[in-house]
Amino acid sequence: YHVTWDIEAAEKGGFEHFMLKEIHEQPKALRDTMASRIAHDLSINLHDLDDIDIEKAGKLFIVACGTAYHAGVVGKYLIERMARLPVEVDIASEFRYRQPIISKGDLAIVISQSGETADTLAALRELKRQGATVIAIANVVGSTITREANKVLYTWAGPEIAVASTKAYTTQLLVITMIALYMAKRRGAMKQRNIDDIVSDIIKLPDKAQSILNGKEAVQHYAAQHFSAHSIFFIGRGLDYALAMEGSLKLKEISYIHSEAYAAGELKHGTIALIEPGTLVVALATQPELFDKMLSNIKEVKARGAVVMAVVQEGNTAIEDVADYVIYLPDTSSWLVPMLGVIPLQLFAYYTALYKGCDVDKPRNLAKSVTVE
Ligand code: G6P
Repeated sequence: YHVTWDIEAAEKGGFEHFMLKEIHEQPKALRDTMASRIAHDLSINLHDLDDIDIEKAGKLFIVACGTAYHAGVVGKYLIERMARLPVEVDIASEFRYRQPIISKGDLAIVISQSGETADTLAALRELKRQGATVIAIANVVGSTITREANKVLYTWAGPEIAVASTKAYTTQLLVITMIALYMAKRRGAMKQRNIDDIVSDIIKLPDKAQSILNGKEAVQHYAAQHFSAHSIFFIGRGLDYALAMEGSLKLKEISYIHSEAYAAGELKHGTIALIEPGTLVVALATQPELFDKMLSNIKEVKARGAVVMAVVQEGNTAIEDVADYVIYLPDTSSWLVPMLGVIPLQLFAYYTALYKGCDVDKPRNLAKSVTVE
């Protein structure tokens, strides 16, 4: 009698890969990350930031790499629009060599799952040297970046093992959304009632994330049809453009399919030349004020023969006239959509890589944490 004990299989808790397990952990990760920070009266508790002079700040820098950078791009849209504070968002390896103009009293947010990324750490040191106050959003407790930053807000996502980041990203988005709302309040840039409406939608996000996961077979089915594609494009406007970048990165990281993310309005300045009959275009059209513009962009690629998979908010059935497949997201505040919209894109990347027979958790040439330049 012989028992084989596979510790890795045990850690995957019944899932075939860590990535799939971590995608499914997102409702819990979101719940844990908001838990101590949203009170019963809907007020946001980020007391660690109370002694920072947010009212007088002139500028905010956001610096990160990879997926964390994509969370930063969402953060720029949110902080500028909610708190009316100018934000510069940079890839850490660019920021540190571009001689950024930093003034004493400027604020900065560095975002890092591992808290050990070399370029992000170097950017943090440069920011501090020039007098900025640096807030770190990090997942690994006690990591170098958390020790060197002035303030730390943890994402309580739990250990992330798969190289492709999933639950770290959604929780980074949640933390930066809470920062944007907190700053909006401190700066008097939003009405309390509007802040409260968004916070009550935040509380409902974990259940909505779960309902997307419950419908994952539809996404699996689309992946089964497209896994042999040579090239896949992601388009969107505003927050959807930021989300397109992450959807495209996820897909290329693990499935090795060439992919690009484009601001939909920029299509006709180049990328549309690459659309051939049958090319898959993932069109993100979740932002109400940009919906009509997205509809015209979808028609433009359809006219060149593209197959369009659209991601929209529930009830937006007008999309069915133009798109080949539609993924409906549970209704939420448009500011919060990226936290839900990324889930079908993660699942699409996962199943595409699975059908191609790729090593999903350990993609070639990539490391979980890049601690050298
Ligand atoms: C590597 C990982 C990515 C991650 C990036 C930044 O490239 O493969 O998943 O987004 O580093 O890592 P960090 O730990 O700083 O968030």
